[in-house]
Amino acid sequence: MTDPTDPTDPTIQSGPQSGPQVVPFEKPVAPATPGPGPRVIAIANQKGGVGKTTTAINLGTALAAIGEHVLIVDLDPQGNASTGLGIQHKERGVSTYDVLAGQAPMRDAVIPTAVPKLHLAPSTMDLSGLELEIGQQRDRAFRLRTALNNINNGSPAFDFTYVLVDCPPSLNLITVNAMAAAHSILVPMQCEFFALEGLSQLLKTVEEVKKNLNPGLSIHGIVMTMYDSRNNLANQVVADVRQFMGKQVYETVIPRNVRISEAPSYGKPVLVYDLKCVGSEAYLRLATEIIQRERALKAG
Ligand SMILES: Nc1ncnc2c1ncn2[C@@H]1O[C@H](COP(=O)(O)OP(=O)(O)OP(=O)(O)O)[C@@H](O)[C@H]1O
Ligand SMILES: [Mg+2]
Repeated sequence: MTDPTDPTDPTIQSGPQSGPQVVPFEKPVAPATPGPGPRVIAIANQKGGVGKTTTAINLGTALAAIGEHVLIVDLDPQGNASTGLGIQHKERGVSTYDVLAGQAPMRDAVIPTAVPKLHLAPSTMDLSGLELEIGQQRDRAFRLRTALNNINNGSPAFDFTYVLVDCPPSLNLITVNAMAAAHSILVPMQCEFFALEGLSQLLKTVEEVKKNLNPGLSIHGIVMTMYDSRNNLANQVVADVRQFMGKQVYETVIPRNVRISEAPSYGKPVLVYDLKCVGSEAYLRLATEIIQRERALKAG
C-alpha cells in the first residue's frame, strides 16, 4: 500500500482537488558516482544523539590524518558538523540547502577546514524546509547524488577519496538523498539498552532505497559508540549487537570520553584537541578498519 509519508516510496500523492496525481521518482540512470570518484559513506541512524556527527567529524579527521582526502557533507539542519569543525554561521556562504535546492553546484559549497585534507560542505537551518520545497519533484531523491557526480572534476584541488555524509536524526527525504547517493551506510549505535530499537526500521529503509533508488547500496558497518567499560550493561549491549549483526559490527568500539564531548565547543575535532586521548586513538583505529574493509570490498 502506498504510504504518502514514506520518502522511499516511488510514488507520492498530490493535487487533492484534481484527484491524486502520481509523481514518480526518476529512475536512476547510472551507478552512484561512477568511475574513480570518492567513496560516499552516509552516516545514518534516525535515533538522535547516538554519535553520528561526532563520528563524521572525527572519522573524517582520522581518514585525512592517514592520507585520504575527505569531504564532510553536513546534511543536518542543526549544522552540528559545521559548528564542530569551527565553521561559523557567517562563513556558511553557500550551504547544502543551496545545493540540494538546485541553486548552486556542490563545488561552491565546499570550504577548507583547519585540518589539512579535510573539507566541509556546511549546512544551515534552511535545510529544514527542503522537503516541503522539493517534495513534489521527480528528482527529489537524487539531488545529492547529482551534486556529487563528478565532484572531483570541479577544480584541480578536488581529489576527494571519501565523502562522509552526516545525516539528520530522521528517515526523511534528506536521509534518503544521502542513501541514494552513497555506496554504503555507516551506522553509529550508542552502547545503551535501547540500542537495537529502531534498527529494523533503518534496515527496512535501506532495503527500500536499494530496491527503488540505489541497487548498489550496502551497510558498511555498525560502530558502537559511547562505550563505558565500567558499565556491565554496555558490555551486554555490545555482545547483543554483535550476535545480531555479526561481522557488520566494527571491531573498534568508541569509548565514552570526555575529550570527545569537549572538542566541539572549541570548534575542533578531538584528534586536533587532544591527539593522545583514548577517543582520538579509537577514531584512528576505526579509520584504519574502514580502509581495510574498503580494500577487501574492492578486491571482491
Ligand atoms: N564517544 C563519546 N564520548 C563522549 N561523548 C560523546 C561521544 N560521542 C558523542 N558524544 C556526545 O554525545 C552527544 C551526541 O553526539 P552527536 O551529536 O555526535 O550525536 P548525533 O547522532 O549526531 O546527534 P543528532 O541525532 O542530534 O544529530 C554530543 O554532545 C557529543 O559530544
Ligand atoms: Mg548530529
